[in-house]
Amino acid sequence: MLSQLEQIEKKALADLESVKNEGSLAEWHVAHLGRNAPIMQVFDKLGQLAKDERPVIGRRANEIKRTLEAAEAERSGQLRQAALSQALQSERLDVTMPGRQVPHGRLHPSTRTLRRIIHIFAEMGFQVYRSHDVETDEYNFQLLNFPPFHPAREMQDSFYMAGDYPKNNPLLLRTHTSPGQIRSMREYASMDPKNPPPIRIVLPGMCYRYEQISARSEIQFNQVEGLAVGEHITFSDLKGTLTDFARRMFGAQVRSRFRAAHFPFTEPSAEMDIECFVCGGMGCPVCKRTGWLEILGCGMVHPVVLQNGGYDPRRFSGYAFGMGSERVAMLIHRIDDIRNFWMNDLRFLEQF
Ligand code: DAH
Repeated sequence: MLSQLEQIEKKALADLESVKNEGSLAEWHVAHLGRNAPIMQVFDKLGQLAKDERPVIGRRANEIKRTLEAAEAERSGQLRQAALSQALQSERLDVTMPGRQVPHGRLHPSTRTLRRIIHIFAEMGFQVYRSHDVETDEYNFQLLNFPPFHPAREMQDSFYMAGDYPKNNPLLLRTHTSPGQIRSMREYASMDPKNPPPIRIVLPGMCYRYEQISARSEIQFNQVEGLAVGEHITFSDLKGTLTDFARRMFGAQVRSRFRAAHFPFTEPSAEMDIECFVCGGMGCPVCKRTGWLEILGCGMVHPVVLQNGGYDPRRFSGYAFGMGSERVAMLIHRIDDIRNFWMNDLRFLEQF
């Protein structure tokens, strides 16, 4: 009988070894500790044993039952531990792995330059005035004192709209931001025609010309126009403001100079150069060995233009200026081909 008990224990423990999950552990329990398990049957048969055998067999059977229960509990613990560490393993996180990159959007270099220019003038008290992209010939040329035979008015140089417009006043895409001078002056003057208020504005926006596209010219580009009108505005206000602008835009030490020029809508007219910041004025390919870079056109608003804007030129004076912001961006970033701006090539755009 005792050897039978040993067999029962050995078999049960051996079977437990091959239990690999909770399910088969339950089956093992039924087979080895359930109501019909061999060890349980030993208890059932205790009564049939000889009187002196009973305590010996009974004690041993009890020991085996407790051994099996303890072994089952231990196995159950092992299985739970194994399941847990497998879960941990599969959810393991390597915090040293590189993160997923979020692609950043950024402003177009042209927009950035435009905003920088506007910001500088805003600090000097200028407000932003938005004018139309589509203009009439009248605003784009006639009111700005362009004579009828001026080459800029040729069909070959401007984008005129096809359509049924008056012969002397067709629609076109503005060729510069200067027509905004007339629009803003008329709007300000309409507030109080007898006493028109002073004006200090910048007009940013896209301009369009029917050009042969090359490294130096595009059919669309941004300009920033400036306009100041008041009762005592002089050429020295113009020089002071633009010289200060150049220092803020290109660096505090930068020197600038004004050269006489001609525009139909200003008198006198000038162009402003800044000292080449690439070579410091020594002469290099960027400044074509002159030491100077042309930045903008400017001048005192022509009396005819003031008149057309509703400002009496006997009482009011003003200055205006205009610059191409891509040109400024090209100088600052040493971009040698203006076509890069609208090619949408990320290799170019991502550098800014
Ligand atoms: N409108 C001129 C151009 O497109 C630039 C310009 C020159 C604007 C002189 C001005 C100015 O206001 O005073 O070339």
